[in-house]
Amino acid sequence: MNILAIETSCDETSAAVIQDGTKIVSNIIATSSAMHEKYGGIVPEVVSREQLKCILPVITEALTAANQSYESIDAIAVTIGPGLIGSLLIGVEAAKTIAFVTNKPLIPVNHVLAHLYANYLEQPEKHAILFPAIGLVVSGGHTELFLMKNKKDLTWLGGTVDDAAGEAFDKAARLLGFGSQGGLAIQKSAGKKSKIKLPRPLLHDDTLNFSFSGLKTAILREVIKQKGLPEFNEKVIGELAYEVQESITDVLVTKTLQAAELYDAQSICIGGGVAANVRLREKFQQSDIPFFCPPVSLCTDNAAYIGSYAYFKGESVDWHTIQAIPDLSVEV
Ligand code: KG4
Ligand code: ZN
Repeated sequence: MNILAIETSCDETSAAVIQDGTKIVSNIIATSSAMHEKYGGIVPEVVSREQLKCILPVITEALTAANQSYESIDAIAVTIGPGLIGSLLIGVEAAKTIAFVTNKPLIPVNHVLAHLYANYLEQPEKHAILFPAIGLVVSGGHTELFLMKNKKDLTWLGGTVDDAAGEAFDKAARLLGFGSQGGLAIQKSAGKKSKIKLPRPLLHDDTLNFSFSGLKTAILREVIKQKGLPEFNEKVIGELAYEVQESITDVLVTKTLQAAELYDAQSICIGGGVAANVRLREKFQQSDIPFFCPPVSLCTDNAAYIGSYAYFKGESVDWHTIQAIPDLSVEV
């Protein structure tokens, strides 16, 4: 079964053709990230205007690269939320139009849950994910834990009560002078352990929730303090980056392992932009429980995992009923 998947929840415009939920036949991604530097971050109006320009070329390229056409695909999948409303609308309206014209099934997808399905793509051994599993979605906008009872049954267990882990990485990167390079810049510049110590928020409370806004403030205070000292240099920046990465990954790993123990999970899988973090992967790999993570290229936003989730979920709906929902709850 070939699904044409469309993803436009944030600044990417992506279309993919996914076969049987596991094989990427094509996956085209256009991003306006180069413009964020100029405007100091993501400006929704700027992003959606770019998406309007490239949505049709991106879909056409995905079909052509897959040697498919609107007639030959079996179904359409689209991210309906959560995300930026102007961006979501572009993907959703394109998908509805294709479904209407071709009379093909249309499957609405929750972007956050879908991140976990990058684990099913391209790697046959991933099909061995052992259930029940704990899924951690960790991105620029979300930090959420799920109990995965099987390939399509997910229950929300907890999440951030304020900012996402990716937001803390991004804030730290800006404070350390890395612009909008975010978590990847922190990972690359992480140096040695030092006396600098940041908090590990909610590490020992009895919920499966996270909190990163206090950590952001602690990072700000520490950076200001270190910048005021005479020995502030590249080495200290490396030590700060090291501690930022350690504190965020310590919390993510500890909470996920707590969830795994509580629900007697047989494996852990992760997804989302922060799942690309090498130190995070290392820490999970050091735990006793089988661990699955997607290839780095499939961690950040793209339509491939939208198509995979749509295949396993398999619930198409009448195109009339589909709407873009910016604050779609991750609990659904
Ligand atoms: O999933 P994603 O592409 O977009 C959202 O849906 O939010 O995630 C983007 C986030 C950003 O916060 C970025 O800093 C973070 O993923 N990220 C990383 C790494 N690569 C991307 N964080 C830590 N380490 C990385 N290597
Ligand atoms: Zn995402």
